[in-house]
Amino acid sequence: MSLLKKITLVQDDITKFTVNAIVNSANKSLLGGGGVDYIIHKKAGAEMQKECRRIHDEIGGSLPNGHAVATTAGNLPAQFIIHTVGPRWLDGSKNEAEDLCNAYLNSLVKANDILAKSISFPNISTGVYNYPKQEAAEIAIGTVLSSLPNFEHIEHVYFICYDQENYNIYKSILTNLDDPKIQINII
Ligand code: APR
Repeated sequence: MSLLKKITLVQDDITKFTVNAIVNSANKSLLGGGGVDYIIHKKAGAEMQKECRRIHDEIGGSLPNGHAVATTAGNLPAQFIIHTVGPRWLDGSKNEAEDLCNAYLNSLVKANDILAKSISFPNISTGVYNYPKQEAAEIAIGTVLSSLPNFEHIEHVYFICYDQENYNIYKSILTNLDDPKIQINII
């Protein structure tokens, strides 16, 4: 009997939430930036930053939109940080939706590869990158719901909303969902 997979919505600071893999909405350089990227780099500490610098050098300094890499989580309550690059919102005609979908999908692929059972996502691209929150939430939830059954090792996905607006949007979408294969919890 396969374990029922779970999706949980929480309003919290992602750096305070214990999971196997925390997803960072990273700068292409992987060397940190503002928002959630800043706080993850700050709290994870030097070990993670050193790994980011190594990967930065290996990939030639820039991770393309939608790609994801994993590092140690350093001092954060997780084993791994999955750094993914979301799209900056321009006008919706520059592959933004596809890039955002790939950021969630490739983060799940990476989490499954490293045998992470639980993973937490921030609301990628909805801060500095200005992605419209409603559309971003629909892409995030739709991508996770449709792909989660394919990931053997991932049991629990957390959507961590820092701001009230995102939380309300995610709550209104998730409240109206009923998926027999996935248990949806709203905290
Ligand atoms: N925990 C959870 N979510 C957070 C936290 C936190 N501690 N801090 C911010 N957020 C949320 C924001 O409220 C927003 O909903 O993360 C979401 C993403 O916002 P940003 O961090 O601004 O990032 P994003 O819009 O994805 O742009 C990424 O901005 O800071 C730079 O280096 C970063 O180049 C990258 C770009």
